[in-house]
Amino acid sequence: MLSFVALFSAFFFAVAIAYPMTKLQELIVWSPTITSPTSSTNWCAGTPLNVTWDMMGMPEDGKNSTGLLLLGHQTQDSENLDIHHPLANGFPLSRGWVFCTMPNDTAPRSDYIVVLFGDSGNASPRFNVSGPDPAAQ
Ligand SMILES: *[C@@H]1O[C@H](CO)[C@@H](O)[C@H](O)[C@H]1NC(C)=O
Ligand SMILES: *[C@@H]1O[C@H](CO)[C@@H](O)[C@H](O)[C@H]1NC(C)=O
Ligand SMILES: *[C@@H]1O[C@H](CO)[C@@H](O)[C@H](O)[C@H]1NC(C)=O
Ligand SMILES: *[C@@H]1O[C@H](CO)[C@@H](O)[C@H](O)[C@H]1NC(C)=O
Repeated sequence: MLSFVALFSAFFFAVAIAYPMTKLQELIVWSPTITSPTSSTNWCAGTPLNVTWDMMGMPEDGKNSTGLLLLGHQTQDSENLDIHHPLANGFPLSRGWVFCTMPNDTAPRSDYIVVLFGDSGNASPRFNVSGPDPAAQ
């Protein structure tokens, strides 16, 4: 009898532990891989770029989610995201792309990243932003 109770309790605890794990799996956030910009992108300030991401594995219940795209630069301990000046906001995540313009006053650096937020944030590879394209002035 004692062993039955022990077994039952063990089963009960296993279920109790497994349940939140399952919940966690349901909540696994979709982290789309950004396919543009890439590490070989040189994005001129003041010019547009089609930022794209891989739609593989997008969860059904994420189909109506909207995204937020932030510019940052990757340093050792921070993504230095510019939360006050989103590159784009409110676009459908399920579309897989958003066309946005790099602000004119973006300082040239070679460690810029864009981070796409839907359920979670996913960063692009580091890329360059150079000064405004002289040909476009
Ligand atoms: C990024 O900028 C650095 C420094 O200006 C330069 O050496 C490098 O070639 C640039 N990379 C690309 C992909 O344009
Ligand atoms: C951005 O790229 C996607 C995928 O290649 C394409 O379907 C879409 O038309 C492009 N958007 C613009 C504005 O160029
Ligand atoms: C997405 O939006 C459509 C139209 O508003 C709605 O019918 C559908 O139930 C929504 N789907 C989800 C998963 O929220
Ligand atoms: C960026 O500079 C260009 C050329 O000087 C100008 O036409 C454009 O309006 C500027 N864009 C922004 C967002 O300030």
